[in-house]
Amino acid sequence: MRRYFVAGNWKMNTTLESAKGLANAIAADVTQKSPMVDVAVCPPAPYLVPVREALGSSKVSLGAQNAYFASPGAYTGEVAVEMLQDVGCKWVILGHSERRQLFSETDDLINKKIVAATAKELGVIFCIGEVLADRQAGRMEAVLQTQLEGGMKDLDAGLLGQFVIAYEPVWAIGTGVTATPEQAEEAHLFIRSWLAKRYSAATAEGIRILYGGSVKADNAAELLSQKNVDGALVGGASLKPDQFLPIIAAAAKLAEA
Ligand code: 13P
Repeated sequence: MRRYFVAGNWKMNTTLESAKGLANAIAADVTQKSPMVDVAVCPPAPYLVPVREALGSSKVSLGAQNAYFASPGAYTGEVAVEMLQDVGCKWVILGHSERRQLFSETDDLINKKIVAATAKELGVIFCIGEVLADRQAGRMEAVLQTQLEGGMKDLDAGLLGQFVIAYEPVWAIGTGVTATPEQAEEAHLFIRSWLAKRYSAATAEGIRILYGGSVKADNAAELLSQKNVDGALVGGASLKPDQFLPIIAAAAKLAEA
């Protein structure tokens, strides 16, 4: 049985003060209420350390939003995997559509980052998803397959212990348009089938597949109740405790059912 995983991607939002406040609110609530759900928050890089301090000994883990694949050295502006681990990160988001679209990240670059992070045992949240034109043209599966093949090239099953895939249809990110539970399940099932073919049925069964794209308190339960939806990667709603905490609670309720 896969444990639910709810992660907040804060993107380029918050201030030092609001980041600490948000982390405090989440840590306090999660510690009391959600033993069955794994929770992570991914603040902007400058706030990783204060957020880690605010999370304290709570079970909320810390994630980063990006990493470079090379070992520390002359790469101005970049952050190495070992630096993220040094400040307490358990996870890094890689392949997010904003990085693909706004920063021209290719499957090849994302693959290098995934290989570097998994080799050092930093957990990876690997994002994939199609744009609206691809979906409308019936290319959703082809796009996901290309992103999976490219991003996971040369990645041995032994490196997938802390590896999560996030299906984030680009047309649902920040738009308020959510994939229907059926659309999410269809994509997740396709991803799991691809994993089974590429690795094995057992490996595919063990990998959690999160849904991301306008997940909110009022649609979380329906999405999370799908067989192959193992959690959520939450953007906008992760910035407000009164929106984010009910998403965790919805997962906890389903886990206990
Ligand atoms: P929204 O929840 O704001 O749509 O963002 C989703 C996302 O991109 C998470 O990584």
